[in-house]
Amino acid sequence: MNVLIINGPNLNMLGIREPEIYGLKSYSDLIAFIEKAAGSLGVAVSFFQSNCEGEMIDAIQAAYGKVDGIIINPAAYAHTSIAIADALKAVGIPAVEVHLTDTHTREPYRHNSFTSEACIETIMGEGFEGYRSALKVLVEIFA
Ligand code: DQA
Repeated sequence: MNVLIINGPNLNMLGIREPEIYGLKSYSDLIAFIEKAAGSLGVAVSFFQSNCEGEMIDAIQAAYGKVDGIIINPAAYAHTSIAIADALKAVGIPAVEVHLTDTHTREPYRHNSFTSEACIETIMGEGFEGYRSALKVLVEIFA
């Protein structure tokens, strides 16, 4: 089983950005965490991170016919991007949305997620562990 992990804008700044909210661990730490979690679940993972909406859409389209599942943290684009939601719907690849923080308990403008409407499940507030939970959701689907 192949899963593409897409991380959106500013997630490459983990460890530096607002550590009181996102913690001190870096994007590289996140990749290492996911690789380990995926390895123990027998899942092959590839990674894509971009600060640009169009590049994220291109990555989703390029995944068509190539991966079994997508895990996406669209970051702030969750709250704004109908285009990313449309791309996820277009390819029809089972996708799970992850947010490190619980966006429902943060600023009101983070409460809505357009992209989650295109995902089978949304996991939030679990930090890095949320990506493991998302992998497990996809493993269950293909079991
Ligand atoms: C985030 C939550 C978003 O609201 C925010 O814009 C992010 C990170 C999270 O993982 O908690 O950049 O997606």
